[in-house]
Amino acid sequence: MRKYFEVDEWKVIENGFDKDYNRVTESVMSLGNGHMGLRGNFAEKYSGDTLQGTYIAGVYYPDKTIVGWWKNGYPEYFAKIANATNFIGLDLKIDGQQIDLNKIEFSDFKRVLNMKEAYLERSFTVNLEGNKVEIVERRFLDQKNKELAALKYRVRSLDRKVKIELTPYLDGDVKNEDANYDEFFWEGLKKTNKKGKASLTMKTRKSNFVVSTAMDWELNKNDREVKLLTGPGNENYVGNKITFRAEAGENIELNKYIAVCTSRDYQADQVKEKAENKVSEAAIRGYDELFAEHRDAWAKIWQESDIKIDGDPEAQQGIRFNIFHLNQTYTGHDPRLNIGPKGFTGEKYGGLTYWDTEAYCLPFYLSTHSEDVARNLLLYRYRHLEKAVENADKLGLDGALYPMVTINGEECHNEWEITFEEIHRNGAIAHAIKDYVDYTGDDKYIKEYGIPVLAQISRFWADRSHFNPRKEKYMILGVTGPNEYENNVNNNWYTNRIAVWTLKYTLNELKKLKENDPDKYQHWLTELDLKASELELWQEISEKMYYPYLDEYDIYAQQDGYLDKEQKLVSDLKEEDIPLHKNWSWDKILRSPYIKQADVMQGIYYFKEDFDQNSVARHYDFYEPRTVHESSLSPCIYSILAADLEREEKAYQLYLRTARLDLDNYNTDTDDGLHITSMAGTWMSIIKGFAGFEIKNDEISFRPFLPKAWNGYDFMIMFRGRRIKVDVCQQKVSFALENGNEIKIKVYDQEYYLNTEQDLTIEK
Ligand code: BGC
Repeated sequence: MRKYFEVDEWKVIENGFDKDYNRVTESVMSLGNGHMGLRGNFAEKYSGDTLQGTYIAGVYYPDKTIVGWWKNGYPEYFAKIANATNFIGLDLKIDGQQIDLNKIEFSDFKRVLNMKEAYLERSFTVNLEGNKVEIVERRFLDQKNKELAALKYRVRSLDRKVKIELTPYLDGDVKNEDANYDEFFWEGLKKTNKKGKASLTMKTRKSNFVVSTAMDWELNKNDREVKLLTGPGNENYVGNKITFRAEAGENIELNKYIAVCTSRDYQADQVKEKAENKVSEAAIRGYDELFAEHRDAWAKIWQESDIKIDGDPEAQQGIRFNIFHLNQTYTGHDPRLNIGPKGFTGEKYGGLTYWDTEAYCLPFYLSTHSEDVARNLLLYRYRHLEKAVENADKLGLDGALYPMVTINGEECHNEWEITFEEIHRNGAIAHAIKDYVDYTGDDKYIKEYGIPVLAQISRFWADRSHFNPRKEKYMILGVTGPNEYENNVNNNWYTNRIAVWTLKYTLNELKKLKENDPDKYQHWLTELDLKASELELWQEISEKMYYPYLDEYDIYAQQDGYLDKEQKLVSDLKEEDIPLHKNWSWDKILRSPYIKQADVMQGIYYFKEDFDQNSVARHYDFYEPRTVHESSLSPCIYSILAADLEREEKAYQLYLRTARLDLDNYNTDTDDGLHITSMAGTWMSIIKGFAGFEIKNDEISFRPFLPKAWNGYDFMIMFRGRRIKVDVCQQKVSFALENGNEIKIKVYDQEYYLNTEQDLTIEK
């Protein structure tokens, strides 16, 4: 952990440059707009340690799988979002000297991520044999016109007249650092290079995505020479070298415009023209106009998703950082896209989709965006249903098994204990349908899209469980629960529980459909070939599922045999043991009682209504002391449950572990990219935890408390066409309905009506 960045409520500030920390800073300072993203790399050449990263949503390469020992059912490839053409590149030479911050003397370095207006600014002064030259760069990825980006570069020589060479360029010769076989994922198709304009069109190998990146630039200087460069010995490069002289004190300003278009959106043979046209239009409109639109788009985002914290600037910066990156990663404008655990900020996890989306991110998007955004996340899985059926079939099973990791519906993960065994992911995908419908009231979704997904997942659960006549119970053997620190266990309680929940929910939704829309019901029975006997079997399994129990603690066991392990607690670990995954052998981890992340507690979080407070407390007190929270997805679940148990101090401590996870590089892994999906967990810790926000039977309720370290906090919730502002202070809680019809809400179990005329204030 390192407190490296300055605290500011709307900015992340790097003041002075630590070369050894550059990869972390690059991750933290990433920009994205849902369509594309880039790490906070320097525009000018940098020969020091860096991960140059530019990623275009949905553009991947199927990287051939590496495994030691092939198992039937392993996928052939692991899709990876291809590190794409570097479009921010801008080389600078002053009096023949290359500006490379790894090699030259400089001072006053600052890199600032402005979260309010979503731009990155970098400034520094180079010292060239007694002459100081100030350099400032600003860039943004357009939130309104998502295919556009722009960069403003300013140079000012303070002491003498200098010769300047500025080279805006596009460099497509970029490799993924995590490529399995060191392959280059791209093939160059075409490059054009004219004065002030250039484009580079590339195609991913095998997956054939055509991506055209076009640039245009303008300089506030007439007297200049422009040389067209086709690269320093590099095929996939176009640049314009602009040479001129600048007087001492003269402000030189270059604006570079970029458009990135892909064959995901246009016919392959039109992509180049589209990018070139878009960039020309952008240049005509100019930096300021484009930026103003971008800023307005962000103002709207903040209006709907900001959380304000009074009295704790570090916490304020932390939560805004999380909300900012979530909104940079996924905007819901394209139902073919989803959320990768690292977003556009690094290469780990390949930029692909995990159960994280449904289990952690969905509530954030439901509460802070219009309903279609969350709906698109659900439709993503609906569209992949056929592939999920094929995936189950590969394992010799009926129904649908959604992949652990995917980009196009096909499984990419290739460790048997996860690919074949971490099947609980199916449950989160089913549960997301309930979350969406509870939240939006859009029950048409179930009828049109939900039923086939639920039915195929239920069918999978039924086939994956078997009846054990000795215990007269159904069981699910050979699984990995959310706790990945143990594999191939029998009867993981969470998996069995979420399987039964799916079966019951599906049966119930089918019953409702039969009553309300018999034709549609019949349609699905025929379409899915569902027989009465199959539905009866689902009913029987749901009634006779086996759940491992620890009588001596009066709680559910994580899985069969959990208590046979040597029972040690996290408090018994030495400081040098933590994190276990870095310091212990895998063998030692698997045999230990230590739990990576919420497992039983993940189930209690989902199915809280089935447990009384004492039971939740008993489970919590057993499992939390054994949990090492080595997945960033863990503390938020425990924080929410601690808040439910009115253990406010504990809830706050756990919240702190997630809130500044990347800003303070808590797990010393931010160099790999940010923990985007766990950022949604941080948001949940405040809204579902501290504010106790819940939806039950079409009604919303709150049970807010104020962490001692804060003076107050407020946030917005979008619910069924309404925007509700919640303000929590020391003495009171206030609610304001900003738009929409009157609504009944519950606060500390009391019912109130809220309308746009009058705010509601409740004294604590
Ligand atoms: C966690 C998984 C999660 C994945 C991606 C792993 O460390 O154990 O639950 O899906 O990271 O975030």
